[in-house]
Amino acid sequence: MRKAFALGAVAVALVAGSHTILAETAGSNLPLATVDSEPLLVSADMRDGQDLSGTWNWSIDPYRSGIAGFHGETPDRGQQRWLDIDVRKTMAQDNRIMFEFDMAHAQTTALPGSWLAASPELRHYQGLVWYQRHFDAPASRKGRYFLRFGAANYATTVYINGQPLGRHEGGFTPFAFEVTKQLRDGDNQITFAVDSQASANTVPPTVTDWENYGGATRGIRLVHTPDTYVDSAWVRLTKDGKLAVDAHLDGAAAAGQAVRLKVAGLPVDLTGKTDAHGDWKATMAAPRALVRWSPEKPQLYDVSLSAGEDEWHDRVGFRTIERKGADILLNGKPVFLRGISMHEEEISPNPARIITPDNARALLGEIKNGLHGNYVRLSHYPHSEVMTRVADELGLLVWSEVPVYWMVAWENAGTLASARNMLAENILRDRNRASVVIWSVANETPVNDARNAFLRTLVGDVRRLDPTRLVSAALLVERDKGAAVPTMTMADPLAADLDVLSINTYNGWYTPDRLAELPKSVWNVPADKPLVFSEFGADAKAGFHSATNLQKFSEEFQAEYYRQTLAMADRVPSLRGMSPWILKDFRSPRRQNPDFQMGWNRKGLISETGQHKQAFDVLAGYYAAKAEGKGK
Ligand code: GCU
Repeated sequence: MRKAFALGAVAVALVAGSHTILAETAGSNLPLATVDSEPLLVSADMRDGQDLSGTWNWSIDPYRSGIAGFHGETPDRGQQRWLDIDVRKTMAQDNRIMFEFDMAHAQTTALPGSWLAASPELRHYQGLVWYQRHFDAPASRKGRYFLRFGAANYATTVYINGQPLGRHEGGFTPFAFEVTKQLRDGDNQITFAVDSQASANTVPPTVTDWENYGGATRGIRLVHTPDTYVDSAWVRLTKDGKLAVDAHLDGAAAAGQAVRLKVAGLPVDLTGKTDAHGDWKATMAAPRALVRWSPEKPQLYDVSLSAGEDEWHDRVGFRTIERKGADILLNGKPVFLRGISMHEEEISPNPARIITPDNARALLGEIKNGLHGNYVRLSHYPHSEVMTRVADELGLLVWSEVPVYWMVAWENAGTLASARNMLAENILRDRNRASVVIWSVANETPVNDARNAFLRTLVGDVRRLDPTRLVSAALLVERDKGAAVPTMTMADPLAADLDVLSINTYNGWYTPDRLAELPKSVWNVPADKPLVFSEFGADAKAGFHSATNLQKFSEEFQAEYYRQTLAMADRVPSLRGMSPWILKDFRSPRRQNPDFQMGWNRKGLISETGQHKQAFDVLAGYYAAKAEGKGK
């Protein structure tokens, strides 16, 4: 399957990836799904298919005995969880046979969702879990069928009816395997193993500041397409006022195929023919009637691309985003990003990273309606496609990010290949989302030559895959320790490669600065690029009050921290946005203060159950005033 945007080197390094987690655990002889090899099925959530959510059997395998024997060899039959057999019946018929698993009779759980919610003993389990279910294939099958995972964290190997399909690495982007030939009439069995164990070489590495939710955290579907189908399509408005379409067909009739792009409600009826590789690119002047997408008016259009027997659909907003000097221009006008950061965690006392449309609306609605925001930083990894679709619908601009976080193995070829593939999978999945305006390649990474080269490779990939959006990374700054007031300088060489400069700052929380001192801060940053405060924040336990001495972790301290930090922000001339840390308290095993945290990072403006803290109203008031005043 040739890809118009082949990342060549990615696949080679991944397949040869001697350092990726899969090579260490999963059957590394299975084919690895990457953007160069896998079916992309862009906008698959709009396609016909069979939802395989629901009840699955599961069984832990902490020593990965279903992947490799105790000398690293292929496991014997007694450990092969994916076998297409009835374990009880087989053992009852022949007393020479023994299995140390029985998936069909193992305990059950509901997917999608992290296993930490499946049972209390899995709360802190990091390792490998097997899942299995049976389903009836569609009766009269024609065309092609694909088993698609919205995401599974972190490394996944998949089997159908006892046959291996392949493996995937990366916990936050979709992947699919074609099963057209493997499907049989009636009952079919899917077995997959998810290994959540991070390592020094994974992306992210072992140490982060969030819960590592293992398992199949997003939907699993059997997607149906005609024999030749639209595997990738990208429809957008260009800066010079054209509608543009890039499409790639896959299948026997992909080459020289008549294609037709239509947009409901607009005089768009663009026809053409794919080239010998099944690719089609075309542009046309954008119709005058086109209403551009914006947070204030999130206009979406039903787009269809017909190609032979296939009709690809998506709901697309048309807008432009660009940088002009220190300004960010949305549809040609300066915009100020009134945002906040967010982890992928539903509002719940016991979240399992299940993002349904309702859960996404509950979270993003707090930003749009509660905070009067127009922007959200979906940190620190690609969020569910459900989230970016709801952002399109509600009208929120999105910063989308890959988990190149803190201490990444910059010199490891497999790590770079994983990061590049993850970035490509994210971009190719969401290029049609009007809400996504910034691709971020890193968060708080230490400055050194290997890291600079690694991140510049990622920046280059973004420029190639999507030259229409802005590139950023959350950077750290150097503080002048001898200065009388907080004085920070951006000395990161990567700044030269970015469109938007972004800084995470925690003066007053992780430092002994008096809050009243913060507005006097000095920020030495390049004046010719837009600056975004991608993070600032302070913990507060909802309901803990300390009105007199403003003790840290109190709501009063957090509220005053926001007042003073916002006053500081107002004095930074090139500031064009912010995404304070963070909308909602989130799970982090690093945070263990028994009075306030117990496994939760409490920097949320709302608690894990949605309770507003005082600082919520401070930021809401600030954004409401900004929305009325300058720089909407
Ligand atoms: C860092 C990091 C976040 C973390 C936050 C904190 O800036 O980017 O992932 O949660 O600080 O310390 O709360």
